[in-house]
Amino acid sequence: MFAASLLVLFLVCLVSGRPTAHLRSKMALHERRTSVPGGFKSFGAPDPGTLLDLRFAFVQSDPAGLETALYDVSTPGSKNFRKYLTKAQVEQFVAPKPESVNVVQTWLKDNGIVAQAVTPAGDWISAKISVAKANAMLDADFQQYSHVGSNTSVIRTLSYSIPVNLKGHLDFVHPATTFIAPVAKPPVQYVPQKRPKAQTAPGTAKAKATSSQKQLAPVKLAFIPTECINATTPACLQDIYNIPQTPGTQSANNSLAVASFLGETADPKDLTRFLAEFRPDIDNSTTFAVKSVDGGVDNGPGTGEASLDIQYTVGLATGVPTTFVDVGPRNEDGLGGFLDIIDALLAEDTPPNVLTTSFGFNEADIPPALAQNLCNAYAQLGSRGTSVLFASGDGGVSGAQPQDCQAFEPTFPSTCPFVTSVGGTVEFLPEIAAPFSSGGFSNIFPRPTYQNAAVDTYLQTLGNIDFKLFNKTGRAFPDVSMQAVNFQVNIRGTVQNVSGTSAASPSFASLVALLNDRQLAQGEAPLGFLNPFLYSLGPGILNDITQGSNPGCGTEGFPAEVGWDPVTGLGTPDFINLFGLILASKQR
Ligand SMILES: *[C@@H]1O[C@H](CO)[C@@H](O)[C@H](O)[C@H]1NC(C)=O
Ligand SMILES: *[C@@H]1O[C@H](CO)[C@@H](O)[C@H](O)[C@H]1NC(C)=O
Ligand SMILES: *[C@@H]1O[C@H](CO)[C@@H](O)[C@H](O)[C@H]1NC(C)=O
Ligand SMILES: *[C@@H]1O[C@H](CO)[C@@H](O)[C@H](O)[C@H]1NC(C)=O
Ligand SMILES: *[C@@H]1O[C@H](CO)[C@@H](O)[C@H](O)[C@H]1NC(C)=O
Ligand SMILES: *[C@@H]1O[C@H](CO)[C@@H](O)[C@H](O)[C@H]1NC(C)=O
Repeated sequence: MFAASLLVLFLVCLVSGRPTAHLRSKMALHERRTSVPGGFKSFGAPDPGTLLDLRFAFVQSDPAGLETALYDVSTPGSKNFRKYLTKAQVEQFVAPKPESVNVVQTWLKDNGIVAQAVTPAGDWISAKISVAKANAMLDADFQQYSHVGSNTSVIRTLSYSIPVNLKGHLDFVHPATTFIAPVAKPPVQYVPQKRPKAQTAPGTAKAKATSSQKQLAPVKLAFIPTECINATTPACLQDIYNIPQTPGTQSANNSLAVASFLGETADPKDLTRFLAEFRPDIDNSTTFAVKSVDGGVDNGPGTGEASLDIQYTVGLATGVPTTFVDVGPRNEDGLGGFLDIIDALLAEDTPPNVLTTSFGFNEADIPPALAQNLCNAYAQLGSRGTSVLFASGDGGVSGAQPQDCQAFEPTFPSTCPFVTSVGGTVEFLPEIAAPFSSGGFSNIFPRPTYQNAAVDTYLQTLGNIDFKLFNKTGRAFPDVSMQAVNFQVNIRGTVQNVSGTSAASPSFASLVALLNDRQLAQGEAPLGFLNPFLYSLGPGILNDITQGSNPGCGTEGFPAEVGWDPVTGLGTPDFINLFGLILASKQR
């Protein structure tokens, strides 16, 4: 018996012309979770015939080269500053090596699977594979898990393996070990509180020493209407940040895009009503374009997030063509189209100059390899000249949403070093940190060089406070901040009062879009990936926010301080200062 079966095996191998190893390659554990993530519960095996929509990410040829190229085009003083890469140049860095394509495709073919490329560079492929086959191919145990809070279910595995010969070629399989809690977005309520002036001082000798410095922070003189105390409008933002009302002139080349997920829709009729009320100086029929990804359609009644994002881009970035990118219902991977929108924009010959996204995740929900891959996708957009902005999150140090936590919870994509993360402020003269403004330190991405000095200074000031609750070696966020409460938004015909870093990111995007307009008018390139430029600015360009903190996880959170801090970043923008600086750097 024993000999006979060996013989059969041998014959099969001869026929297929491949060594035995191919029939059952040695497998190596590839990704693994030690336990079911909080909020999820297993409820047994799915029907083995259930089809999974699996994606396979290749190891990219040269991600380090991409990173070098990104910094080369975005660091002031570097040789190729703002000389952005073409689509083909970027794709060369991320396209898999031919031998990677060969070994992975051979493995899939041996398993009877035909996969399709899903990205312009071919670094991702996808295929529908049954649960039974996926379990066999990947030594996996795909089970049904329900997310308790939202009563939704997903099919995932706690671990999987890949054939050893695919190591170095296949980066990871998705969604396999990805457990992402579905986003429920409660409106952020900001209730102004009576604060003692030095509320943020954590009570150490060091922190006390800085509070006298705080009083020296320059206070800008401005005429800001008192209504802005209760109700933030485009006029308030124009006043606080010196944003011009005059329309941009570069509509042929300038662009601003708003990413939208979870079925959110922006109604042009709401925008008209909003403009009529809050921008009486411009044509109330000014509207936006819609780009659909994954079958997203935007023809429903207005919803909160989308209305906010569209009204504070079209309504603030006067004269800048704005596109609402509506990402459809593809949510079986938990990422809700986060991969697909970037691929769709990378496929364009001219991606938008600015992209703002007010959605995000707790970093711990995203497996590190997937987070790295998405982060590289933002680097690709950045090297092509897009400023990629994300809201930092609304749960203070406890993450994307307020939650119980034992350790501070950073938010992704804000922790990606290749995006600009926007936190929130409240009040003015002086502005102070919004208590919900998420910020902190990544557990996946190390701190990038551009923020080394700024973050070191902060950590020294902070001393040992809550030291065990965060990873001080990680990429620190946010990078900047802006007003984030009481935004007046027209939703289905009624003006509502909306708060959150969701308000800050589109507003910052609009300011950048107007700076880009001035750049283009001078025949210069748009600003692109902003962080190396922003962190290189001397004091006095941005408005430094030095009061407030972002409580969470049973702590006071991080205090705002002189210079960069993990609540308000480097501070809030000033259009005139930034524009002056950009002009001055050109004359050199
Ligand atoms: C959860 O969803 C299932 C099926 O979709 C349904 O039968 C059940 O009633 C739901 N439970 C709750 C608490 O909503
Ligand atoms: C702000 O709102 C409060 C309560 O809603 C109201 O009493 C007050 O008059 C408002 N202040 C301004 C400046 O609108
Ligand atoms: C908006 O909501 C905040 C907090 O609930 C409140 O203080 C403020 O007065 C409201 N503003 C308006 C215009 O209703
Ligand atoms: C701006 O757009 C016009 C019209 O499409 C084009 O001719 C011109 O070259 C563009 N300028 C730049 C700087 O891209
Ligand atoms: C928009 O402007 C037009 C022309 O000025 C005006 O007739 C119309 O009433 C305005 N729409 C709203 C909603 O105010
Ligand atoms: C801390 O962050 C670094 C990246 O800077 C990461 O390599 C490390 O694993 C993190 N530590 C923990 C305990 O998460």
